[in-house]
Amino acid sequence: FGLVYEKGIHGESLFAEFATLDPNVLAVKLDGCTKEDYVWGLRVGFITFALKGASEAQLKVLEDKAAGSVRSCISNASSIGQHLAVAAFAAWGVTASAGVRSWEPWYDTNGHVINAHGGGVMYDDGAYWWYGEHKVYGEAGNQAWVGVHAYRSTDLVTWEDRGVVLKVSDDPASEITAGCIIERPKVVYCPNNGLTLMFFHFEPKCDRATYSGGMVGIAQSARPEGPFRFLYATRPCGTIVRDQTVFVDDDGKAYFIAATGPKNAKLAVFPLTADYFDFTGEKFVIEASLRDEAPAVFKHDGWYYILASDCTGWKPNAARYLRARSITGPWERMPNPCVGTDPKTGLGPELTWGGQSTYVQKLPDGTFLALFDRWRPEAIHDSRYFWLPFSVKADHTFEIVWPR
Ligand code: DGJ
Repeated sequence: FGLVYEKGIHGESLFAEFATLDPNVLAVKLDGCTKEDYVWGLRVGFITFALKGASEAQLKVLEDKAAGSVRSCISNASSIGQHLAVAAFAAWGVTASAGVRSWEPWYDTNGHVINAHGGGVMYDDGAYWWYGEHKVYGEAGNQAWVGVHAYRSTDLVTWEDRGVVLKVSDDPASEITAGCIIERPKVVYCPNNGLTLMFFHFEPKCDRATYSGGMVGIAQSARPEGPFRFLYATRPCGTIVRDQTVFVDDDGKAYFIAATGPKNAKLAVFPLTADYFDFTGEKFVIEASLRDEAPAVFKHDGWYYILASDCTGWKPNAARYLRARSITGPWERMPNPCVGTDPKTGLGPELTWGGQSTYVQKLPDGTFLALFDRWRPEAIHDSRYFWLPFSVKADHTFEIVWPR
């Protein structure tokens, strides 16, 4: 079946050795759901018996007994067995299945293409929520004519459309009137007040052509499913901010991290107040950064990491990352973590396979999923996504590898 054994490991099940060992040895083999699902699909498990010199009648009794037992404890509740198998795979096998979508459209459970660009993921109570920019068809596609779209999933693969959770306003006097720019929404849960907060790069409608507004917009909801209410837009510490993200540390403290200043010269970290509604007024410039955009922050083993891109508009460029022992720095600049070439496009690390980072999601097994957008400026509504699993190594470095 294409099963692979490491060198030096016995090449077949020990069951074969026991099967004909002795008339007093009943060999029982249980194939678990990982193998059964991998080889045959949809099977939850498989039981095989062998007994040296056993007659047909003896084997029939064994089979009937086992079948009766299966019927009474599994068959009459088969959906539970299936459900457990799915839950087990979802808990720590997600990386394999949630991985790469490249130029393939990614469909939701209704069969519609997922519209959640520059997005972020939030885990809440057994489900993942994916929030992203809803792009529309046509030249004005990058302006916000709809709002922020949300999808829900328990396995990071199948996404259910949960609609537009932050709507732009029809009122021309509203700050978030249709036609403004809302980019890179990131959503976090605040344990101190039980509210769900959304942060996004905001450009007022009047600044949309030049991106000169350079603000962060903040919206709030009582629940992950929204609706989110726009609160306000600002420049934290009076600083121009563009590509941005939010990171909640293990102690519940939250940080807003953004490309700042003219030409996005430096990334900076702005601590948030305990309720996440505001900024503390502190600002930690990341001196090691250099025109970095698309920051995606994560933490592993006490170290902080920022996966980022260069600053070249919608065009792809080479990724890079920064790492630090403290979120407020000092940060160390690290090389491009991407490795390998996409054989379909011939694109490799020099252009991040045609993509740009947007978020890094920690998985239950301690590995990570790096989320990238593949922008199509000529048809921005039809931009695509690819997600790649990776792990942080013992020396506090990481590589993101395009799978062969
Ligand atoms: C690159 C940013 O990462 C995107 O979010 C968007 O702002 C484009 N630049 C606009 O050119």
